[in-house]
Amino acid sequence: ELSPIDKAKFVAAKRAADFVEDGMRVGLGTGSTAAWLVRCLGEMVRDEGLKFKGVPTSTRTAELAREVGIEVISLDEARWLDLTIDGADEFDGDLNLIKGGGGALLQEKIVATASDQMVVITDISKEVGTLGAFPLPVEVIPFGWQTTHALIEETLISMDVMGRSATLRMNGDRPFITDEGNHILDLHLQRIGNPRQLALVMNQMPGVVENGLFIDICDTVVIGYGDGKVEVRD
Ligand code: A5P
Repeated sequence: ELSPIDKAKFVAAKRAADFVEDGMRVGLGTGSTAAWLVRCLGEMVRDEGLKFKGVPTSTRTAELAREVGIEVISLDEARWLDLTIDGADEFDGDLNLIKGGGGALLQEKIVATASDQMVVITDISKEVGTLGAFPLPVEVIPFGWQTTHALIEETLISMDVMGRSATLRMNGDRPFITDEGNHILDLHLQRIGNPRQLALVMNQMPGVVENGLFIDICDTVVIGYGDGKVEVRD
């Protein structure tokens, strides 16, 4: 028996799996909600003969997808995608997102941007009025990361954000390393008044590879509830 939160994630994933049609190239997200999706799609391949190609957004997702029998190809093989289905850490009323809680934001953003459509699967707890309660992940190059860190904190002081501290994400007693060999700084901002501006400013800094704000990328949010209800917003 699933807990209400897992049930919510599962029903959202299951509904979104129906967006996948024969012949499609589909971006496969990362995280616990996306893992439900990958398992659902694996069942549809096995039981219903669904034929599609999946482009994973992390090594974790690639492993799971292969395990459940999905045909996996790289983004370079696919070039463009019909659809990406992924989780999120927060979404707002404009369907803008914070992603990267699982550390895969860079590949996730590249894959989502290469897709005709991005569908986010989530439970209702991730809905916010204003983005920013969830710490914003920013992927930075290891070279000189402390200098990049200082530059980010200085820049935040001049912007419409409440918090100003950034912390290096750790994996035990070592810095977390992304699939692309980088580090992640988590920005504790509380609220992001102007996410579009913040996303642009972050990506202009030397040393920053990408930030976890997904602005105007998501088309549809599929929201699951603990009682099994599903709501679709687009
Ligand atoms: C991974 O890097 C993130 O962007 C995930 O999409 C996000 O953390 C959602 O994960 P859960 O589905 O586990 O909450």
